[in-house]
Amino acid sequence: MEDLTGRVAVITGGAGGIGKSLAERFGREGMKLVIADIEAGALHRTVGELRDAGAEVIGVQTDVTSFESVEALAAAAFAEYGKVHVLCNNAGVGPPSAAVWDTTPNDWKWTFSVNVFGVAHGIQAFVPRMLESGEEGIVINTSSPDGPIAPMPTASVYAATKSAVTCLTECLDAQLHSQSAKVRAAVFYPSGQGLLDTGLWTSDRNRPSELARERPRSTPALTVAQLRERGMPIQSLDELAELVVEGIRDGRFVMILNPERAIATLTERLEKFSRGENATEMHQLG
Ligand SMILES: NC(=O)c1ccc[n+]([C@@H]2O[C@H](COP(=O)([O-])OP(=O)(O)OC[C@H]3O[C@@H](n4cnc5c(N)ncnc54)[C@H](O)[C@@H]3O)[C@@H](O)[C@H]2O)c1
Repeated sequence: MEDLTGRVAVITGGAGGIGKSLAERFGREGMKLVIADIEAGALHRTVGELRDAGAEVIGVQTDVTSFESVEALAAAAFAEYGKVHVLCNNAGVGPPSAAVWDTTPNDWKWTFSVNVFGVAHGIQAFVPRMLESGEEGIVINTSSPDGPIAPMPTASVYAATKSAVTCLTECLDAQLHSQSAKVRAAVFYPSGQGLLDTGLWTSDRNRPSELARERPRSTPALTVAQLRERGMPIQSLDELAELVVEGIRDGRFVMILNPERAIATLTERLEKFSRGENATEMHQLG
């Protein structure tokens, strides 16, 4: 998709962090925007800022864990613009880091409901409409290197969700390709040189009370302030948004900064795999 001007993009989790940065970048490209987020206040503010910057944009409060809510989002997007070219299934939460045996059923239910069911709902609600429209399109699912490239054992639940996102995106794209569809899929791995200073570290703010943790953690949660204190550099979110725009233009399936690092990690893992060893080791982050 070479020319993005006038194309329509939908971004879940678009009110803050990486999603907001994608929205700002798409807006500068002259794309029409639909911003979906569970947080009404942040959604309202972000839509206002995008409009002030000259973008054509609507906001739709959406809970991606509910298929009905995502279906209503798709209906609203198509009612407003008649087509959708870029769907970013980006909303995500986590990680509730803990030893695997210290995680709770609700940790798994909540994280999977947003990170995996949310992406599946986006595909189910939008892809049939996107195919029906006959327009060129791309579904970009936000994964993470944490999981599919190499899991952080201290963030096991989150890593498992992001492995699932990569897996289902590969399946989706293979199926679309086999049908010579004009819609394709891509997987986006936000990462880079340092910390991504987003709301991910305070995801609990959106955790529903019925999926609250059943018991207190036995280890304290890592905070973004602690990571900053360790002197971690901050990765630019604009650079990530630029990567996605380039990826859309080039028709790239894998969208990752510095792919050499991921390739080195995967090669090391493959060597361990071939020796029958566990490719995962404890990292010191969590
Ligand atoms: N920050 C990182 O280090 C990092 C690294 C790799 C991947 N990611 C992924 O990037 C994506 C964006 O995360 P971020 O870092 O910008 O965090 P963020 O918290 O700043 O943004 C996530 C957005 O999703 C929204 N959201 C949460 N639950 C929702 C729900 N049920 N329905 C709709 N919206 C919901 C939040 O309100 C928020 O605006 C996530 O999928 C995350 O897993 C983040």
